[in-house]
Amino acid sequence: MATASPTIAPPTVRQTQCFIGGQWVPAQSGKTFDTINPATEEPIAQVAEGDAADVNLAVEAARNALENGEWSRIDARDRGALMHRLADLMEEELDELAALESLDNGKPISDAKAADLPLAIDCLRYYAGYADKLHGQTIPIRGNYFTYTRREPVGVVGQIIPWNFPILMAAWKWGPALAAGCTIVMKPAEQTPLTCLRMGRLAQKAGIPDGVINIIPGYGPTAGASLVKHPGVDKIAFTGEYLTAQIIMSDASQTLKRLTFELGGKSPNIVFADADLEAAAAGSHFALYFNQGQCCCAGSRLFVEESIHDEFVERLIAMNQSRKLGDPLDPATEQGPQVDQAQFDKILKYIDIGNNEGAQCVSGGARWGEQGYYIEPTLFTGVTDEMKIATDEIFGPVLSVLKFKDVGEVIDRANNTPYGLAAAVWTRDIGKAHHVAAKVKAGTVWINCYDVFDAAAPFGGFKMSGMGRELGERGLDAYLESKTVTVALD
Ligand code: NAI
Ligand code: MG
Repeated sequence: MATASPTIAPPTVRQTQCFIGGQWVPAQSGKTFDTINPATEEPIAQVAEGDAADVNLAVEAARNALENGEWSRIDARDRGALMHRLADLMEEELDELAALESLDNGKPISDAKAADLPLAIDCLRYYAGYADKLHGQTIPIRGNYFTYTRREPVGVVGQIIPWNFPILMAAWKWGPALAAGCTIVMKPAEQTPLTCLRMGRLAQKAGIPDGVINIIPGYGPTAGASLVKHPGVDKIAFTGEYLTAQIIMSDASQTLKRLTFELGGKSPNIVFADADLEAAAAGSHFALYFNQGQCCCAGSRLFVEESIHDEFVERLIAMNQSRKLGDPLDPATEQGPQVDQAQFDKILKYIDIGNNEGAQCVSGGARWGEQGYYIEPTLFTGVTDEMKIATDEIFGPVLSVLKFKDVGEVIDRANNTPYGLAAAVWTRDIGKAHHVAAKVKAGTVWINCYDVFDAAAPFGGFKMSGMGRELGERGLDAYLESKTVTVALD
């Protein structure tokens, strides 16, 4: 007999202050802000509200650690060992970190345990292995010279992350930065600061020297913007929306900082009639509804070949009807609340827009329950390319289904967007699959699968979905400068 697994008790919040030079300190202004539990709409904790003054101190600590501290002298292999130690501590605390993530973000605890935490730990271990493998080259040039290159840390890096995968985004950013020998000032999202701060504590326990990782919780236009403008910061790595990236690019222009952006998308997910329809339906459902639809690479434009359209939509509706919404800390929950009131309002507005544009809402379409930012899994059919629900990133559980007739047509329509983060194609015809993969303008293409992530596989956007790549060997590029050294041999 199956017994229901008990709901996890909310974890204790232990870190709420700024983390600067190894010290836990209140914001200089004394200000705090509430972080909210999206399942209850009630505050969980008051967190230090950092701004320019705190960023200044953090950058100073990071600069000092980079140039004078133990980190500046440590052997590369020992740097890797510290990263492994951090990953081990996260593994030891996996249950607690997952529960804290679930509490602050609203994501189902089972997702946090199965996806966010293992992927974050794996990412740190993957990059730990690179710490002592950052080789330069020896280069034959004309004349009697010896020329070689060194790969050096880019310096102090500012890292600004969003709320949809807080721990995972911290790991994606810390992994390559630490492997490269950089020092870090991170600003977590104001919606979800708690797990990043907890990771700061674990980094300290792991023995990562003071000042190597600094964390300033706070808001974008204050803490975030001062990090971007600070002349002591060499590089900004940002994940979030393209409108914010545009502000960051402009703010960073004064100091010509190195920039990497991982932005959003309106990713096409293309299902041909010759696909394994059961797998394609399950994969397409996951592609959009996973993480409450709050994924940069969500398969939010679902193109279905006309001949199988109705049957395919029936399968998706059935999955929506059996989806279990509820308390994120209940291990049986499949869908939690949206992260905050602003996202909740934005998504409901898009559902109104879809209805007014003449699309058919055939599943969901409303708030779920009376408390918490829950939205029913929602599905629109009859969506056409120019509708706003087909062009805008909604970032919620709202799927738009579009019909198509042939390969050339669907490739053109898939590419008719300023975005280019991800795409997927479902078919049993391998020639067609690789043809679509080659023609679609996106940084990642999945064939007969979706959302397959690995620390070793580069990820990032074409066009307005980003600049540069994270993960994989390429993910290190943005954290390293190349220095050419030439020696006269005469
Ligand atoms: P956002 O881009 O404003 O926030 C992301 C991070 O940037 C946060 O840490 C925020 O504090 C910081 N930030 C905001 N303004 C800044 C500034 N002027 N300078 C420096 N840092 C700044 O995204 P937001 O407002 O949380 O969500 C709005 C929409 O963005 C969502 O509805 C979704 O469409 C998209 N989004 C996409 C994400 C992705 O993974 N691609 C993640 C989060 C949001
Ligand atoms: Mg914003």
